[in-house]
Amino acid sequence: MARIFLISLPLVLLLLAPSEAAEEPSHKPSSEFKTLFPLLGRHEDSNTVLSGNVPEDQNTLKERTPGKLKKDFYRKTCPNVEKIVTKTFSKIVKENPGAIGHMLRLQFHDCFVNGCDASILLDFTPTGDTVEKSSMFNGLLLKGADIIDDVKTKVEEECPETVSCADIMVFTTYEAMSLAGLPGQKPLGGRRDSLISLATIAEENNLPRPDWSMDQIMELFGRKGFNVEETVVLLGGHSVGVCHCDAFMERANNFNGTGKPDPILPANVIEEIKKSCPNAGTNLYRNPPVNFDATPTVLDNLFFKDLVEKRRALILTDSYLYEDARTRPIVEQMAADHTLFPNRFPEVMAKLTALDVLTGTEGDVRKICRSLN
Ligand code: HEM
Ligand SMILES: *[C@@H]1O[C@H](CO)[C@@H](O)[C@H](O)[C@H]1NC(C)=O
Repeated sequence: MARIFLISLPLVLLLLAPSEAAEEPSHKPSSEFKTLFPLLGRHEDSNTVLSGNVPEDQNTLKERTPGKLKKDFYRKTCPNVEKIVTKTFSKIVKENPGAIGHMLRLQFHDCFVNGCDASILLDFTPTGDTVEKSSMFNGLLLKGADIIDDVKTKVEEECPETVSCADIMVFTTYEAMSLAGLPGQKPLGGRRDSLISLATIAEENNLPRPDWSMDQIMELFGRKGFNVEETVVLLGGHSVGVCHCDAFMERANNFNGTGKPDPILPANVIEEIKKSCPNAGTNLYRNPPVNFDATPTVLDNLFFKDLVEKRRALILTDSYLYEDARTRPIVEQMAADHTLFPNRFPEVMAKLTALDVLTGTEGDVRKICRSLN
């Protein structure tokens, strides 16, 4: 697959951007690249490294996009855009309910790496640098770019070169939340698409890993402007979708090289994991997907109830939500009140989808989400 892609790359470049194709790929290290293109006008992330115990108000008050996004942004230029998104995405979900989980994760990874600018969708950049989506920090299986292709195509038919890929992604994510049972919310619009996409930015401590400590998670989410409560709510995104066995199987078999299961997992959860991930350590092992909870297309509080009532979580960082004294009370609240999470999740997603966005004349509105204009 990768090889076919590499071979066809020069051809695609020739078709789409003849002038750029003539240039040699530069393979510049990221630091040099950054000084050449200092993130194209967006205000830089603060470089302060916060400790794990961040005072909550310090984070909540951080305003990352002061009022630049608008309701009904396309009211005059593409009044039907949300209808087109709804129609196209609900058709996709009918055939593949997993699309709900794919969208939420894609959105999270786009927004945490350089802001919600559709940089995750680019398949290549003219400089030849490795793009964000190729970073192993996304895991092997970041899905959903094809969903945006389909929605974008439909939107372009009615409103050519008008709606950014970043907005289409957010509108589709909102549709996913609505199909997953959350009260319909109107997303803001006005995001613009990035002109760059770099794996190195994804790898500069901008994406969490399932073996991270709670301090590392809080540092990252704090740096992005989320307090502890908001972080727990966002991690409730694991109420939908799947996790592949590679990310958590060793907890049942050989936790952290000890040759024993993870001591914080109850025996029945260990059994469940062993059953869900058969043939571990043999040629027959296939790294299958396992649902995060029993309702993988519904954004409900079951993920939190599983933690409180059964200590059940697949990945280690999700277990820490219950184990850590700072997050346990919030998990318990979410588990006890089934209306709380469905109300808080869209509010925190509104904040996520406004993170470090490009607006106005920054960036671009891409015609094809996978490539620059
Ligand atoms: C500590 C932070 C997080 C870690 C370590 C983490 C890790 C992971 C891992 C390892 C997977 C499985 C990927 C696979 O095997 O295909 C996954 C899936 C997923 N994550 Fe997270 N995640 C985190 C935070 C979030 C947040 C904040 C959201 C959204 C708001 C989110 C939404 C999802 C969704 C929806 C899936 C399922 C994807 C699908 O079904 O295709 N995650 N995450
Ligand atoms: C895993 O093992 C290392 C080295 O023995 C240790 O420092 C670390 O705390 C362990 N991690 C967990 C999650 O137990």
